[in-house]
Amino acid sequence: MTDQTPKRLFIKTYGCQMNVYDSQRMAEAMGAEGYVETDRPEDADMVLLNTCHIREKAAEKLYSDLGRLKPLKAGRPDLKIGVAGCVAQAEGDEIIRRMPLVDLVVGPQAYHRLPAMARGEGPAVDTEFPAEDKFDHLPQRRATRRAPAAFLTVQEGCDKFCAFCVVPYTRGAEVSRPAARILAEARDLVTRGVREITLLGQNVNGWHGEGAEGFGGLIRQLAEIDGLDRIRYTTSHPSDMADDLIAAHRDIPQLMPYLHLPVQSGSDRMLKAMNRKHTADQYLRLIDRIRAARPDIMLTSDFIVGFPGESDADHAATLRLVEQVGFGTAFSFKYSPRPGTPAAGRALVDDAVADARLKELQALLTRQQKAAQESMVGRTLGVLFEKPGRLPGQLVGKSDYLHSVFVDAPDAQIGDLVQVRIRESAANSLAGELV
Ligand code: SAH
Ligand code: SF4
Ligand code: F3S
Repeated sequence: MTDQTPKRLFIKTYGCQMNVYDSQRMAEAMGAEGYVETDRPEDADMVLLNTCHIREKAAEKLYSDLGRLKPLKAGRPDLKIGVAGCVAQAEGDEIIRRMPLVDLVVGPQAYHRLPAMARGEGPAVDTEFPAEDKFDHLPQRRATRRAPAAFLTVQEGCDKFCAFCVVPYTRGAEVSRPAARILAEARDLVTRGVREITLLGQNVNGWHGEGAEGFGGLIRQLAEIDGLDRIRYTTSHPSDMADDLIAAHRDIPQLMPYLHLPVQSGSDRMLKAMNRKHTADQYLRLIDRIRAARPDIMLTSDFIVGFPGESDADHAATLRLVEQVGFGTAFSFKYSPRPGTPAAGRALVDDAVADARLKELQALLTRQQKAAQESMVGRTLGVLFEKPGRLPGQLVGKSDYLHSVFVDAPDAQIGDLVQVRIRESAANSLAGELV
């Protein structure tokens, strides 16, 4: 008999949700080659690191993790080590030069070729943006883990070229998948027990694929799928919040009342230097329109502090914008110069000043997050159970507003969508009871 032991694949995912989705698709593609996933790199026949290049620290993590794999590879020369994702795209064969233990490097638009590369039938480094659509060359979705909430990439790449950002270079030009493919993948996920889908794209609301009238139209079509109870999307650009998409937030009950809408800064001078193509006031007026359509919507955002040229007055404008909007939560980052981006050569803000601004902004955002969570106490919300909680009989799920909610529910199951009365707010989660 031939050797029937499956090969084992360990994948580590860094970065954004699009990478999480890509890791699942790569696992499925390697699954068709006889690989099963393992949580332990030491058991693996192949280790795949799906990387992020967005900030310097994110990229450096790859090299420290590769360093840690050295002893493993020394003891197991047949172990294959692959680097995928945005560092793979940005640095290509430089990764193998710096870390010769790496066997394969594959970019985010070429990973349908990973199986052939792993068989030794392709190049060791593939960072092409191929003419063919990788989605046409990937196996069907497969239920790798029982999970009622799934990601679905609908749009790839970005044409916005914000002055700080590597994404247009690592992911390439904006491409929207046709509606028919997206609907087929969504239906397939629903037959596998998925009840909530988060539509993904670096600029997801700019979706303009075949078969639907804009992103709002796509959401309307998805909302027709029986058994798809919740729809979310991320990440959006303020310039692409079309009227019809705003109206969808009013009209479509499956579309959850939550919107991540990065603004980056509250200073028009900085927004211009960042090439964001909107002013602070335009953003605020947009928020007013969104809230008019869906008054209870939870808004979240991304901020960069210490962008080149940022003054105290610019920073104060950012704090003012945050006060005016009132966010549910937000990510804030200190500017990190990225090679090849327009802002890379500009003079940096003093590091201590940037650190202090980041701290000040984060303190304000933390207060807003706390207030938003506390406003949920006493309310009854939908919760989709996704995993067991810390205590026996406890389950955890996401509320409509994407808060994690812990519930004592010994008779309930993962995948149940239940009504929960929120009892209390903790640091990063809520607790409640079934009604
Ligand atoms: N496509 C999304 C998010 C891209 S990356 C959007 O347009 O909003 C996620 C966040 O990382 C960005 O919103 C930004 O706040 C942050 N970011 C991107 N490049 C950065 C850099 N060079 N330094 C610090 N933060 C950065
Ligand atoms: Fe990057 Fe800007 Fe595109 Fe977002 S919109 S991915 S921040 S270039
Ligand atoms: Fe990072 Fe690439 Fe996503 S740079 S944030 S993994 S698109």
